[in-house]
Amino acid sequence: MPSVITIDGPAASGKSSIARLVAKQLGYTFVGTGNMYRAFTWAVLNRGIDPGDAAAVVAVLPSIVFECPVSDGQTHVRLDGHDLTADQLNSDAVNAAVSLVARVPEVRTRLVADQRALIRLGSLVMEGRDIGSVVFPDSPFKIYIDASEEVRASRRRAQGQADNLAERDRIDKARKSSPLVVPDGATLIDNSAITLDEAVQLVLQALNERGLKS
Ligand code: DC
Repeated sequence: MPSVITIDGPAASGKSSIARLVAKQLGYTFVGTGNMYRAFTWAVLNRGIDPGDAAAVVAVLPSIVFECPVSDGQTHVRLDGHDLTADQLNSDAVNAAVSLVARVPEVRTRLVADQRALIRLGSLVMEGRDIGSVVFPDSPFKIYIDASEEVRASRRRAQGQADNLAERDRIDKARKSSPLVVPDGATLIDNSAITLDEAVQLVLQALNERGLKS
């Protein structure tokens, strides 16, 4: 049976970097679900739709062709037959709109189905906001990564991105449809004051204690 390691946490908490390295160590496929919501947001903006207009977002969904091809041990996002670049996925416009698109229940239903289907690839490390609470709630391997608001904001500044983290967190935690929560039974790791390597070791140790055979 393939294993799924779920890694959730707020924006810029370091969860993607940690999850990517954990996946590499274990030889599992890395899945970043934030990029899936970012790809849909790109599609919405590209079609001239107001991301705050939920009905208009729902209406455009059938026209979005979305795939997650795998290479280099991780899934990528392909939209309408084109691979999206990191610059497109992390543009200021997408940062500002992604939480609005991600709170639309129909968007979530579609992406959660795609995320669950990725188990066909074998064992996964999947990161996001609702992976341990909604996508794979039965996984015994749940991690929640946090960092102080100050540390998270300074990481984003270092990446040269405009990103209103506090506002994104507010919308992500307050939405009705699968909000960001610490999943039941998750191990909480705060990486504000430790290195990336130390955080990865703590995650591997927690998984080991939970009986993950690596
Ligand atoms: O991890 P990220 O910052 O790239 O995620 C971008 C946005 O996508 C985040 O603000 C909320 C949404 N998201 C979500 O709602 N559920 C997930 N599993 C992953 C991301």
